[in-house]
Amino acid sequence: MPKRLFDPMEHPDWIPPQTAEWHENLALETGGYKYPWNSVFDEPRAEVIFADKITACLRENSRVLDVGCGHGEFTKTFATRSREIVGIDVVEGYIASAKKDSDKSITFDVVDADKPLPFSNDSFDVVYTKKGPWLFHKGMKEGHRVIKPGGMALGLYHCGTDGGLRSLFPGLYSPLPDNYLEEIKAKFERQLSESNLEKIELKIFEEIEYLSRPEDVLIKKCFGQKETLKEIVWEKCLEDVEGIFLRHATSRGLKVANYYALMIGRAT
Ligand SMILES: C[S@@+](CC[C@H](N)C(=O)[O-])C[C@H]1O[C@@H](n2cnc3c(N)ncnc32)[C@H](O)[C@@H]1O
Repeated sequence: MPKRLFDPMEHPDWIPPQTAEWHENLALETGGYKYPWNSVFDEPRAEVIFADKITACLRENSRVLDVGCGHGEFTKTFATRSREIVGIDVVEGYIASAKKDSDKSITFDVVDADKPLPFSNDSFDVVYTKKGPWLFHKGMKEGHRVIKPGGMALGLYHCGTDGGLRSLFPGLYSPLPDNYLEEIKAKFERQLSESNLEKIELKIFEEIEYLSRPEDVLIKKCFGQKETLKEIVWEKCLEDVEGIFLRHATSRGLKVANYYALMIGRAT
């Protein structure tokens, strides 16, 4: 039976990831939503697959909306491929970073996507989100209002990491439920079928990543947490994590699998 490691989620200073407080802390400490651990990937990376899908929808005169754009690094990759891009995010610190070195065809604004959007009807040919708010949930009107008829809506969501990681580091990570990927697929199928979008594509797929060093297992777990909590986790876990890592790592690093959902629909 492998040793149970310290679970940082049980510490009172743990900030639940992806909450407003967690994003504010990240924006304050780093200015952006950037993964801080070292790793390499098998190609193609999930983000490259998603970028290719978005690019296939773009025309020279397209107007594009990136919902939950974070610090705008991904948004900027489409600058020369469309007429105008708007990146919105609710976290001021991310948008302040995004505005630095921005192309004149891109606008970044602090906007809460849960509220009425500051855009007129039929404004965008393409509306996408990479791990941010999906504007086309059942009963939500804003996504359908701002996208043009025939416009394309795309979403990429990270749905967790495993591929052995969770059983190697019990406590630090918990097992995913049985049928996890089937249930994730059913959830996204429902989400797409309940919207007013015509389904073009839905797939759940794996991205293979190799964490470079033992510390990277802890850096990944503590992404967005305060330095004081990280110090506790390092002290309690690093030695055990080093031992496990060295026994299981390949020459490229410790292999893990990231699960992603990709959704594409057309506005009717
Ligand atoms: C997981 S991060 C992804 C950031 C960026 N798209 C990327 O892939 O690097 C989710 C983003 O959605 C933003 N977000 C969450 N809720 C939002 C809302 N109601 N309105 C606008 N942005 C929101 C967060 O601030 C965060 O930047």
